[in-house]
Amino acid sequence: MKTNLPLDADRLWADVMALAQITDPERPYTRRSFSALFLEGRAFLARRFAEAGLTTRIDAAGNLIGRIDGADPAIGVIAIGSHSDTVPSGGRFDGIAGVAAGLEVVRALRDSGAQLDHTIEVIDFLAEEPSEYGLSCVGSRGMTGSLNDRMLDLTDPTGEKLRDALRRVGGEPDRLSQAKRDDIRAFLELHIEQGVVLESQSLDVGIVTSIVGIRRLEIVFQGEADHAGTMPMALRRDALVAAAHTVSSVREAADGLAAEGPDYFVATVGILTVEPSASNIVPGRCRLVIDARTTNPALTKRFVEIIGRESSAHATSAKVTRASFADLSDGAPVACDPALRAALRTGAHDLGLGETDLPSGAGHDAAFMSRICPSAMVFVPCRAGKSHAPEEWADREAIAAGAAVIYQAVKALDQSLPRKARSGAA
Ligand code: GLV
Ligand code: MN
Ligand code: MN
Repeated sequence: MKTNLPLDADRLWADVMALAQITDPERPYTRRSFSALFLEGRAFLARRFAEAGLTTRIDAAGNLIGRIDGADPAIGVIAIGSHSDTVPSGGRFDGIAGVAAGLEVVRALRDSGAQLDHTIEVIDFLAEEPSEYGLSCVGSRGMTGSLNDRMLDLTDPTGEKLRDALRRVGGEPDRLSQAKRDDIRAFLELHIEQGVVLESQSLDVGIVTSIVGIRRLEIVFQGEADHAGTMPMALRRDALVAAAHTVSSVREAADGLAAEGPDYFVATVGILTVEPSASNIVPGRCRLVIDARTTNPALTKRFVEIIGRESSAHATSAKVTRASFADLSDGAPVACDPALRAALRTGAHDLGLGETDLPSGAGHDAAFMSRICPSAMVFVPCRAGKSHAPEEWADREAIAAGAAVIYQAVKALDQSLPRKARSGAA
């Protein structure tokens, strides 16, 4: 365990634990984006940001941003952040650790008396996890000009549009262009690894090389609801039968593409809704959402062709129609910035920490941020690689070590980043 880190591990840990308490008590740890609990979490963060001397605002894309001006505001911003929303029954660290780390970096800089030339921002991006509207990374899409009208018109199960939900949390969907940034010179994100590489090699930090591209595809099968006791088998139009075969096709196609190597490919059906969902009714309608991830988009293209063909065949043989086969979102894989990665690596070495390069199979706000500025990530070990589950765990010292690497990198980048004149403000 490292004890001579340039920040306060306990103070950082206290924020992570305090945010964890803001959860749906029936489903720890749940703080879904756009919910009352999410807003409660944000109020907590905004208070902490203000106590640290940050000027706090919500941008038009619904991101919570804390800002501390540098000595030379004209040279732009170094941003640090992640997300405070969770998946249903998720963990205490996914996203939260990165926001709390950004805040602690600012407090540690303040405590050390350092005055940076660049302005520093700590960002809690809105809705990184797939939201009830079917879209993930809402805030980082907005900040990078990647949130379009089609996405804003997506609805949740109650029929509320994403644009209205965005308004509810303080965003301004009609002025989204104001959220788009051109003044951020570097973005750094700390995150738990959500894998076992660091733990199994007893390493302190991972320097992320690339982040997978994620494509989410929705398929709806429309059949006919009928009496499960009286409708003869030969006459049924069972939507779930087509869906079930499609789930198997997803698994088989993904197994095949993953086995080809060396590129990474995984695909999952994580949402399957059956209507009307009663034991004595033949399923009339089924909706699936497929999440396909890769380092090579050509594989996803082939995957979508296979699933397109096979889901159509499954619909025909179940005598149902395929009412929808549509992309919900499609993000390309990204490479993290080499200069930022070098700064993180040097930071780790200076602190005497063990590090390795590793790719990310999870999606992150950094993938969107790389569209507008150099971006990189630090992973910290988490127990048994477990994430998106209540057992998710990262040690206090592990998070502090990762945050300290960002602290070192921020100080170095403040001096080494190319100094271009700022072309516009957000
Ligand atoms: C984010 O948590 C993801 O789905 O990878
Ligand atoms: Mn997550
Ligand atoms: Mn996350």
